[in-house]
Amino acid sequence: MLKLSYKDILHTKQFSKEDLKLIFSTAKEMEKIISWEKKETPLKDKIMASMFYEPSTRTRLSFESAMHRLWWNVITVSDSNATSLSKWESLEDNAKIISIYADIIVMRHPEVHSVQKTAITIDKSVINAWDWANQHPTQALLDVYTIFKEKKTLNWLNISIVWDLKYWRTAHSLVFLMWLFKNVSFNFISPKELKMPEKVIIFLKEKNISFIEWDNYKKWIKDSDVVYVTRLQKERFTDLSEYEKLKNNFILTLDILKEAKKDVTIMHPLPRVNEVDHKVDNLSNAAFFRQASNWVPIRMALLYLLLKD
Ligand code: CP
Repeated sequence: MLKLSYKDILHTKQFSKEDLKLIFSTAKEMEKIISWEKKETPLKDKIMASMFYEPSTRTRLSFESAMHRLWWNVITVSDSNATSLSKWESLEDNAKIISIYADIIVMRHPEVHSVQKTAITIDKSVINAWDWANQHPTQALLDVYTIFKEKKTLNWLNISIVWDLKYWRTAHSLVFLMWLFKNVSFNFISPKELKMPEKVIIFLKEKNISFIEWDNYKKWIKDSDVVYVTRLQKERFTDLSEYEKLKNNFILTLDILKEAKKDVTIMHPLPRVNEVDHKVDNLSNAAFFRQASNWVPIRMALLYLLLKD
């Protein structure tokens, strides 16, 4: 197998189409290990340090599960108060020490660019498991892998991204990856308070990618091949009255989906609160739990491709 040409995974914009082909074909091989179709693991004796300074269920546990599926080992930081950061050690020193004990670091941190800064200071590979409202590149990879598996193509797709477009980094990361494909267009559906950030809009204009911004489902849902719903993130609001004002808008229901294409793929990075009605779960095109099952093979592929000699 080939190798990725970089040390770290920090930002979606670093991936080329060739990288995606390599990652997806490796993930396919990893699915064989998960299903026991393939019994030998590709490398021996690797240790991943999982440094999570913000809560996570899926990202952390799927990375750790990926390591166990490869018969590798994990060391974990899940609470910064339980490390010497609580004794005023700098994040830089803390990461340098942890990197001595591990072969690769997966890191989530509540400061924008903190993961990039860490990657510069240490020799081992670092994977960004998200740095506040900035980037979540491995989520974008598995989202695109899911779209490919569901639609059998990544070209000529109209993608609606819905709800908290301001803070959901997976929404930003998805745009920065899907633009690589032919004739992809976007509908950004959100209240004006939570519109897609200017950096994403400028990027799309520079690349001449078609998009619209709209404040309800009605007009654009019928054109969508994929509807990607996000959660309103209460934890990002400094003024909770703003959250209360917005929290019941944009709930995706069976009624709204009557207007959509029969084969529209419904996705969600999860966790969900109320933004996708539970009755939607029973539709065959509700793909969010299948999406979650793609987390482990994609992360096995990334760990393998970064750690192989
Ligand atoms: N989608 C996602 O990153 O989930 P967690 O916050 O549970 O890791």
